[in-house]
Amino acid sequence: MTELIKVGLLGLGTVGGGTVNVLQRNSAEISRRTGQSIQVVAAAVREINADRICDTNLFELTDDPVSIVDNPEIDVVIESMGGTELAFDLVMRAIANGKHIITANKALIAVRGNEIVKAAVEANVMLAFEAAVAGGISVVKVLREGLAGNQIKSIVGIINGTGNYILTAMGDEQRDFAGVLAEAQALGYAEADPSFDVDGVDAAHKLTILASLSFGMPLHFERVYTEGIGEITLTDIQMADEFGYRIKHLGIARHTETGVELRVHPTLVPKTHLLANVNGVMNAVYIDADAAGSTLLYGAGAGAEPTASSIVADLIDVARHKQSGLINVPILGFQNDQIDDLQVIAQSEFASAYFLRMEATDQPGVLAEISSIFAGLDVSIEAITQKEPPAGVNTAAISLITQFTDEAKVLKAIGKLESLSQVSGAVKLIRIEHF
Ligand code: NDP
Ligand code: HSE
Repeated sequence: MTELIKVGLLGLGTVGGGTVNVLQRNSAEISRRTGQSIQVVAAAVREINADRICDTNLFELTDDPVSIVDNPEIDVVIESMGGTELAFDLVMRAIANGKHIITANKALIAVRGNEIVKAAVEANVMLAFEAAVAGGISVVKVLREGLAGNQIKSIVGIINGTGNYILTAMGDEQRDFAGVLAEAQALGYAEADPSFDVDGVDAAHKLTILASLSFGMPLHFERVYTEGIGEITLTDIQMADEFGYRIKHLGIARHTETGVELRVHPTLVPKTHLLANVNGVMNAVYIDADAAGSTLLYGAGAGAEPTASSIVADLIDVARHKQSGLINVPILGFQNDQIDDLQVIAQSEFASAYFLRMEATDQPGVLAEISSIFAGLDVSIEAITQKEPPAGVNTAAISLITQFTDEAKVLKAIGKLESLSQVSGAVKLIRIEHF
């Protein structure tokens, strides 16, 4: 006999509404895959009478989210409301009530995930969060299952759709930042607080999760070095282009001999690399593993249906689990007593190649002076260009790229450059990734 899985939703916006649509449209196919029926029985929202992207006639709408997590009929709670306070309390209460949890909320998992994982393990319920990282890309499943036989060496990704949408439109269409951000918001890609997208916080949440799944370490959002895209200008994009690079906002988690690098920042990527050609709201995650080698996962990073695709996949896992009664895949992909609190490397220990850009007085000897600063610190310059200033302006834009070196040396060079009388304003630094 077909079993019925009853679902309660916390939130019915872009993600919750998209999930209802996919579940309704694909219900026959989902039953064929699971041998069971999945039915949404209730959803909690703030504003009962607001317009919705899905049909709400088939289930109860409530403005009391506690009624969802306390409802004894509900087997699975999908948390798609966002935030780390009320969402945390509701998820913990649902777990205490024995409900399986599916969430799209990367902030919740990255910031409070260690507590939630512990509670879910103790209650023997499933906690699934495929939708929390890279929208429709099944990267959680790939790391926890597909690549489970590997040692993961590094994971480098474009993991914020809004940020990539903005950088792509600035580069390709020379559009201004604010206009493109407004468009990404209207399309439902941006976070409730869009500064999470622009300042790199959302990508840092996702990188925290990817690092845990890759290396079997606890969730340490507070240890991720984070820079956003707010300071990237059209001139940076054009100068990078002249050197043969595109600027992408990357999350990088790398297992080294001295610890784990966890960093999120704008990065120059060689134009020939696949990641340089991931545009618009698309995301991509590039995984380097010892046995499989390099794997690239590519797909939509945000939006109602791609995110719903991941949530529904998690629901199907829950349905299959209910049939077997076994939770075979540990929540973070490693046995819970084998999670290892690896050392996270500080910025002072980073090493990379670097792109620097500055404004300097257009007079003889400036380039020589700049070069001598780098030579004195044993940093090799790979290429340097100076843009002729427009008529009547006596400062020129100088851009250079260094060879692979210690970040500490480059920061020292920047200090010396900024103290030169010929250099005006701050020197811009963007890291370069050669893979
Ligand atoms: P929305 O703002 O579109 O939806 C949030 C929903 O939660 C709304 O239905 C809202 O109700 C409801 N809600 C919020 N607070 C409460 C509350 N206190 N009580 C009851 N209901 C509440 O957000 P998204 O769907 O875009 O995002 C939801 C989550 O999914 C976030 O964690 C986000 O980071 C994540 N996510 C989003 C993606 C996307 O592409 N948008 C992709 C992947 C993950 P009401 O509608 O009445 O305001
Ligand atoms: N705001 C997020 C993004 C949503 O733009 O990537 C998907 O997680």
